Amino acid sequence: DATVTVSPAVLGFTAVPKSLADVVAVPDGYAVTVLYRLGDPIASGVAAYANNGTDTNFAQRAGDHHDGMSYFGLSASASTPDPTNSSRGLLVMNHENISEQYLHVNGVTAGSARLESEAIKEIESHGVSVIEVSRTSASGTWSYNQSSALNRRVTPNTPVSFSGPVRGNAVLRTRYSTDGTAGRGTINNCANGTMPWHTYLTCEENWAGYFRRASGDAALRTAGGRGKENASLTRYGIREGNAGNYGWSTVVPADTTSTIYARWNASVIAGTVTDGTTDFSHEPFQLGWVVEIDPFDPASTPRKRTALGRMNHEGCEIGRTIAGVKPAFYMGDDAQNEYLYKFVSATPWSAADATATNRLAIGDKYLDAGTLYVAKMNADGSGQWLPLVFGQNGLTSSNATYAFADQADVLVNTRLAADILGATKMDRPEWTAVNPATGEMYVTLTNNSSRTAANVDAPNPRAYTDPKVDGRSAGNGNVNGHVIRLREAGDTSEATAFAWDIYAFGAGSDLSPTNINLSGLDATNDFSSPDGLWFGLNSNATGQGTPVMWIETDDGAYTDVTNCMLLAAIPGTVGDGGTRAVTSTLGGVTNTVTTRIGKAPGTTLRRFLVGPKQCEITGIHSTPDGRSLFVNIQHPGEGGNASAISSNWPANQTGTAAPTSRPRSATIVITRTDGGLVGL
Ligand code: FEO
Ligand code: CA
Ligand code: CA
Ligand code: CA
Repeated sequence: DATVTVSPAVLGFTAVPKSLADVVAVPDGYAVTVLYRLGDPIASGVAAYANNGTDTNFAQRAGDHHDGMSYFGLSASASTPDPTNSSRGLLVMNHENISEQYLHVNGVTAGSARLESEAIKEIESHGVSVIEVSRTSASGTWSYNQSSALNRRVTPNTPVSFSGPVRGNAVLRTRYSTDGTAGRGTINNCANGTMPWHTYLTCEENWAGYFRRASGDAALRTAGGRGKENASLTRYGIREGNAGNYGWSTVVPADTTSTIYARWNASVIAGTVTDGTTDFSHEPFQLGWVVEIDPFDPASTPRKRTALGRMNHEGCEIGRTIAGVKPAFYMGDDAQNEYLYKFVSATPWSAADATATNRLAIGDKYLDAGTLYVAKMNADGSGQWLPLVFGQNGLTSSNATYAFADQADVLVNTRLAADILGATKMDRPEWTAVNPATGEMYVTLTNNSSRTAANVDAPNPRAYTDPKVDGRSAGNGNVNGHVIRLREAGDTSEATAFAWDIYAFGAGSDLSPTNINLSGLDATNDFSSPDGLWFGLNSNATGQGTPVMWIETDDGAYTDVTNCMLLAAIPGTVGDGGTRAVTSTLGGVTNTVTTRIGKAPGTTLRRFLVGPKQCEITGIHSTPDGRSLFVNIQHPGEGGNASAISSNWPANQTGTAAPTSRPRSATIVITRTDGGLVGL
């Protein structure tokens, strides 16, 4: 609430320099442990990872491309939650995608049909891991327990159920689920949410790319009375002629009854029943959701929470929970010129739910009924949450652009509904995070190469050409991204209005302070393409309740100068800066807009970590005592392949590694060698 005082605190480490070295670098006085790497076995009897392309059985190994992650404390000797336990817990993380070139002996086998033996590895390397982790003493090293009964992989093949208003809807009916209530797994899981009732939210981001859609599909849908689906498929990027990432639908399985490959062909099969129950033409509607997992019950069925809408869900983080107040969940739709969303539960928060044992039923209570809103940001620093509610503001059956049938139709087609409401098109909304001290919400806008000087606006005010000789990406538009924050009216999660400003603009410190490096970044904190974002739980000895905000980068524009990084910040509050006129010059157009900019961060923003070559830094969480920080290193060496390896990380983290050592995405743990609070 508004009475909470933000105590002063200072970052307690020396900034890590920018670097192109193939190693994770942290400040003096800190240690890095590599905890959980691609392929590491998570069940008894599964062999150690050979890391040469011969490994199999990825449903019992760590997946690839570690992303969003949460730590849940475990009671000392049981499998129940103990949110105070900082030495034993469940680490839950997403495996967003794959570096396909390193999963096989010598890359992908050529041919018009993918080999089943390769495709199954690739599919099972996606999804989610749940692993039990512990340290033997307060100063001991972290490890995971290979034989824990709590270890679990959720893969794209794991049975899931649908919850909320879209459950059982006609567009969810497939050959696998003829009544539209069930589905298989989850894919391209990017960021996450950590629920106070001890469940994990995983978010389906770039799922659309996995689908094949044949030429002529639109006509078949129209002929079958399903022409309305074409507008939706197009809006979500599932276009005729798409082959589908990795070509999984081309597999001819040994078990001819298996449909785990055929499901990736979204095309209507000509001559079949037209309601979608004999093919996988509705399968794209089964993806694009937020999915809730109970990590404490490995037998539980994950639930797709349809009330939160369907999009390229980057993440879903809950704001502060206050008894008697309806909680809010903040979500970015990560694609160029997409929107920022908020879901507000229909039910006010009850503190007793944090200790309930029927965790997914608590999820039903808060995540299946409520109001989904999309953000409109005005030039004067105000904003509105526009409700995505059937029957309101043109979301009706008589809308000329798209005739909505009901609330389920609004949720399945969240983007189409938000278009009609006139929401603000943003520079790729990625993670959200809420300051626990103030309730203010931050969202990263990673970059936007399609932002032009003609269409800059106050919340997305920059369009320019990266002046660097870059080698990798010259870059136009909002090249380096920024971080917006907003304060809800009345400081309540239920608000329908807010104030916003821009916390910080990404930029090289050598770029124009007038129109690009607007936050005055210097060599200790310059960054590009903010993505991961999380408020830590720690406080220092004197600064009660002052949390550190962590910013992770995923950059293509600054990687000629430095590998991706993690920064720590002690942020201020909305409105602590002022207004600023920003002039964009691009493509022969010059345009000036006035934006709202926070106070220059100066020494309250500092680089804490730089990762190895060609990685993205993502996924971040800590133990409740703030003394062990978990961070994910995603796709090191992604630009190389098995015959031209471009990173040896993590084998080289503690010394030299054989040049033939293939890179692996991995979770690391960062601790202070004196056992103190990380970052402070
Ligand atoms: Fe998976 Fe938008 O990052
Ligand atoms: Ca990624
Ligand atoms: Ca991301
Ligand atoms: Ca990204």
